[in-house]
Amino acid sequence: MQVFEKIKYTREFINARKAEGKTIGFVPTMGALHEGHLSLVDQAKKETHIIVVSVFVNPAQFNNPDDLQKYPRDMEGDMQKLKQRGVDVVFAPSEQEMYPEKTSRTYDFGHLDKVMEGKHRPGHFNGVALIVHKLFDIIHPDKAFFGNKDYQQLVIIKQLTRQENLPVEVVGCPILREPDGLAMSSRNQRLTQQERKIAPVLYQTLKKAVELRNHQTVDAVKRFVTEEIKKTKAIELEYFDIADSNTLTSINKWSESDNPRGFIAAWLGDVRLIDNMAFN
Ligand code: PAF
Repeated sequence: MQVFEKIKYTREFINARKAEGKTIGFVPTMGALHEGHLSLVDQAKKETHIIVVSVFVNPAQFNNPDDLQKYPRDMEGDMQKLKQRGVDVVFAPSEQEMYPEKTSRTYDFGHLDKVMEGKHRPGHFNGVALIVHKLFDIIHPDKAFFGNKDYQQLVIIKQLTRQENLPVEVVGCPILREPDGLAMSSRNQRLTQQERKIAPVLYQTLKKAVELRNHQTVDAVKRFVTEEIKKTKAIELEYFDIADSNTLTSINKWSESDNPRGFIAAWLGDVRLIDNMAFN
């Protein structure tokens, strides 16, 4: 496994593989890797020849300095996991390497980055788009793999590639869950033992909501989720919405979407968790 900190050497290595006719699969990460990330690596290995993983905690996407400071980091553990999984290249740049100059670039994703995560984390998706655009420009992947857990991010990255004409196929991969249903996330490490026991309530509530779909209105399901979450005092619901999976437009009637999805964000202590589930 090659580990590069510099853009120049990463580009040289990838260009040489491309010249040999190899396809490049890319998994962007912020490190603190878990099985969810590694499942993206496995998928990339099925679909492309050379697997590149980036590990970079991107300051531009954190709207909350405390969240950035507390974001888990484990470079040594990450390297071990990636090596074991048969990754070819790790790109682990410094902040100076990725942002040599202050950038004021802003993207316009219309409605997509104004709702849900975009509404509650101002500037977050601009920071994500900025770094993913830079990474795509360095790595020139044929395919890039993202988890469905950050579903809104996935929709926005697909839009980014369309509006910037980026020649990369964006592949969404299933959410990996712990045996009790909690969606895998680097942030789970920050939960206390007590909070960790409570956290699967988000998954359980989403699952019950999906079961209600056939005999309840959209409004009734939204109310059910709000009430259900309220029963667990330690959880503070930030939002729950049911929206179309492609347009992320909130729906009021089931007939308004062929592909509705429930999106939830909630706080457990000072840890913010998100999850989502298809309603069909
Ligand atoms: O999903 C993430 O971990 C990050 O948002 C990403 C895509 C690596 C960009 O920093």
